[in-house]
Amino acid sequence: MTIKTATLNGVATIEIARPEKKNALTLAMYRAMADAIAAATTDPAVRALLITGQPGIFTSGNDIEDFMQRPIDGMESPAFLFMKALLACDKPVVAAVTGAAIGVGTTMLLHCDFVYVSDEARLAMPFVSLGLVPEFASSLVVPQLMGNVRAAEKLLLGEPFNGAEAVECGIANAVLPAGEVVLHARRVAERFNALPPGAVQESKRLLRRARAQAALEAIAVEGEVFARRLRSPEAQEAFSAFFQKRKPDFSKF
Ligand code: COA
Repeated sequence: MTIKTATLNGVATIEIARPEKKNALTLAMYRAMADAIAAATTDPAVRALLITGQPGIFTSGNDIEDFMQRPIDGMESPAFLFMKALLACDKPVVAAVTGAAIGVGTTMLLHCDFVYVSDEARLAMPFVSLGLVPEFASSLVVPQLMGNVRAAEKLLLGEPFNGAEAVECGIANAVLPAGEVVLHARRVAERFNALPPGAVQESKRLLRRARAQAALEAIAVEGEVFARRLRSPEAQEAFSAFFQKRKPDFSKF
């Protein structure tokens, strides 16, 4: 099983569980997460959602073999269904970043309401090094959060950063010891059991209102470029290099 779901004490947990591949997300996993978010959004027993990974790894991002073999083909692809389900969720979403969060592992955090990061976690959005471009509205939200010059470090150079920097630039709430991050995130999620759900959901919609349409538009514009870039010789070189465990050679482009 690669996505585990469970609802306990008002909290729907979505656990990414493919540790042998560093929790890389396949099409089936995106679809399972989209379905789980949609189900939790409408289930009256659920007051909040919790997204988490495995010890030492949150997710290494999109499965690179899927990028090569089954590239995105339109807005109905499972990755976009996941993005749209997360954006449409009007219940609080809490992320427990249990370890490395690469690519969509970081960009999904931009759309969670609370983010707690393990002190061992590294975050990164290395799209350009893979011959790709930013996704999940990161081209819009990252500069808004941290300003253009730091966004360029993270999105053009793909520089990794730790939990403390994620807190400083407004991506995360707090850094916690690795052994405590999931429990802490769950406790925050459970606090919504004591709050009026209608007011919480209306408030979340208001908090997101100004950005909601712009984020959907950014996802669509980025998605078109991303899908084209997936088929580019630059991306093919980057993907082959990853599986051959060598540095990519972009000197010929
Ligand atoms: N897609 C497909 N397979 C992946 C993967 C991904 N995103 N990330 C890791 N894996 C696989 C590796 O190929 C390896 O498989 P193998 O055991 O069959 O050789 C296994 O998971 C373990 O990965 P490995 O790289 O050996 O682990 P590590 O601890 O040295 O490094 C990471 C962990 C996450 C830093 C590293 O795997 C990584 O950089 N992954 C790719 C991240 C990325 O670029 N994601 C796409 C963002 S758009």
